Amino acid sequence: MSEPGTVDWRALWSDAEAIVGDRTKARWLCEVASGMGGDEFRASLDEPATERMVAHLDAMLARLRTGEPLQYVLGTWAFRHLELMIDRRVLIPRPETEFVVDVALELCKGRQRPIRLADLGTGCGAIGLSLAFELAFELARELPRGGVEVWLTDVSVDALDVARANLAGLGRSAANVRIADGDWFEALPMGLVGSFDVIVSNPPYVCDDDPELEASVRDWEPSPALYGGPNGLDQIERLVAGAPRWLRGGGWLVLEIGASQGTAVRALFEEHGFDDIVVRPDLAGRDRVAIGRSSA
Ligand SMILES: C[S@@+](CC[C@H](N)C(=O)[O-])C[C@H]1O[C@@H](n2cnc3c(N)ncnc32)[C@H](O)[C@@H]1O
Repeated sequence: MSEPGTVDWRALWSDAEAIVGDRTKARWLCEVASGMGGDEFRASLDEPATERMVAHLDAMLARLRTGEPLQYVLGTWAFRHLELMIDRRVLIPRPETEFVVDVALELCKGRQRPIRLADLGTGCGAIGLSLAFELAFELARELPRGGVEVWLTDVSVDALDVARANLAGLGRSAANVRIADGDWFEALPMGLVGSFDVIVSNPPYVCDDDPELEASVRDWEPSPALYGGPNGLDQIERLVAGAPRWLRGGGWLVLEIGASQGTAVRALFEEHGFDDIVVRPDLAGRDRVAIGRSSA
């Protein structure tokens, strides 16, 4: 791109926009390269960029040209109220997963405190850290301390390193978050059998060899975060089968599911004795979240 020391951020922003084809995304890239956000960046548009900043911007643009998703190139992504660090060790948190958090929060609000939650297959921690953060605010008036305990687990220790980094940025609401690695329920201490109020998971549910999976997802996001067997249900089935043992009587299992999996997942919940089973559609009207209550 342009010569460092001679080019200002206004020109670099325009150059980046011409390459990425989107003014907002180009600004995000310039903000990361300049180390300045929001108002500070806007106030510096006529300032020259340093050599190091131009090199950083060029490197990010080169990564984008290879097809790498913008979220990995930026290194952070917004999810509900949190700005989460992400990289190729974890799935990029999706807007539809924000709805899973809404559903889990609704179910928590009716429960007696203290509440114990688990986010199984936490990846970067999007679901579990959002629950810890938002419930801390919700409960602050009635329960200043100890109102909520959230377990984040994943079979990928690399993913958990990312979750740990995000936990470090959570502030006071991080105090009651625990992180454990292992295969689904095996990550949890045996002493917690039968004690969870809500277990949430966004498990891998894409069908192996799904021809509709976008190339950028298939080529860049971690395979163990995506694929759930020939019909996408392998990991969902394990979670539905295992959850009753770990839930308190009347506790809830909340699963993100694929748009075509509602009927099959409902049948799994029924098979494993759940009550009050509901498959909730997202804003686009597609099956998105399955919930079921453990029989008391
Ligand atoms: C679809 S990603 C969801 C990540 C994150 N919860 C989110 O919603 O953005 C699925 C996650 O489950 C994890 N996972 C896959 N198989 C697992 C298993 N057997 N036990 C625990 N976690 C698993 C993956 O490593 C990945 O982080």
